[in-house]
Amino acid sequence: EPAGVPVIVRALVARGPGAELRVERVRLPAPGPGEVRVTIRAAGVCHSDLSMVNGTLAATFPLVLGHEATGVVAEAGAGTRLPVGTPVVLNWAPACRACWWCRHDEPWLCAANTAPTVARGETEDGVPLHLTLGLGALAEAVVVPESAVVPIPAGLPAEQAALLGCAVLTGVGAVGNTARVAPGESVAVIGLGGVGLTVLAAARRAGATTILAVDVAEAKRDLALAAGATDFLLSDDRLSKEVRARTEGRGVDHAFECVGRAATIRAAWRLTRRGGAVTVVGMGAKDDMVSLGALDIFHSARTLRSSVYGSSDPDREVPVLAAELADGALDLRVLISGTVGLDDAPTAFDRLARGEGARWVVTL
Ligand code: APR
Ligand code: ZN
Repeated sequence: EPAGVPVIVRALVARGPGAELRVERVRLPAPGPGEVRVTIRAAGVCHSDLSMVNGTLAATFPLVLGHEATGVVAEAGAGTRLPVGTPVVLNWAPACRACWWCRHDEPWLCAANTAPTVARGETEDGVPLHLTLGLGALAEAVVVPESAVVPIPAGLPAEQAALLGCAVLTGVGAVGNTARVAPGESVAVIGLGGVGLTVLAAARRAGATTILAVDVAEAKRDLALAAGATDFLLSDDRLSKEVRARTEGRGVDHAFECVGRAATIRAAWRLTRRGGAVTVVGMGAKDDMVSLGALDIFHSARTLRSSVYGSSDPDREVPVLAAELADGALDLRVLISGTVGLDDAPTAFDRLARGEGARWVVTL
């Protein structure tokens, strides 16, 4: 394959909000200075992709979906350091290392990463293409800045390594970095998709002793218990009572919102004890407003924080998680409901939209 020329690859494209997803041939530019082309091996289907397709999150179209993936460096632009053949995980929040946030050890809030979609490449009929979170990873290949890839050891199971790039980094970081769950604490997790199930498993590893898993779908019960929950509770009008019955009447030390809706942020607030902490992991819609009483905010002395990308530095933390995957300390099989080829990726989106399973992974 010649270097320095554009390549045509197959990618999962949404032509507009609500439009049917289709695998299309798209043209990617050759990697420029500081950029690499990565051949994708596996990419997860995350709710943020779905939120862009269905209009919950702002996006520009035509859009290549996908932002949770692993692959191999196939071509390296001028001035890059990673050799061709290096296995990598993609990072959707590459840090500039120069802005105020990067200099203050909060690279997940890097000022260079505010756009949900980034223009790059074009469709085969010449329309400018946009990439989900700057990656567009549900494709045979991506061309990205080298800062958007993190090298990992060779030989990891691709469908598990892919999840390190979003759900796992986010869930593990929300527990360890943002909320700093301590041994013996109580935790409630609302929303049991790839993100929420990772939060459960991480809370168990952190030594939490009461781990309450909450979802609207009864079908999530077995998954939640397998991932580390001590109890599964349906999200209905008895929820508050059920949580208090398991926390000596107080509410949990930590509630994690992993849906991305005002109603579930409000529910997380109600389930948390006086002085406890609510961590918002879900990415909700701009106009979905949360209402809290001013006296309640004062009197309950709760903390409300969001966790962007697990408050993590992927360059530092993905290699740690990858090493744990390699030596068996981390096993992500419980998160993976199934793998499909790129042509069947639209069915994986349908299943996610119906709340079926945990993570669906596209393998290439
Ligand atoms: N109460 C409780 N659970 C709910 C509710 C509700 N009102 N509404 C939906 N859920 C559950 C669904 O049944 C599903 O199990 O939330 C879960 C969401 O899981 P996924 O769709 O798989 O989402 P995931 O990819 O885990 O992402 C969760 O994090 O990264 C963000 O944008 C992403 O906001 C999304 C969130
Ligand atoms: Zn994601």
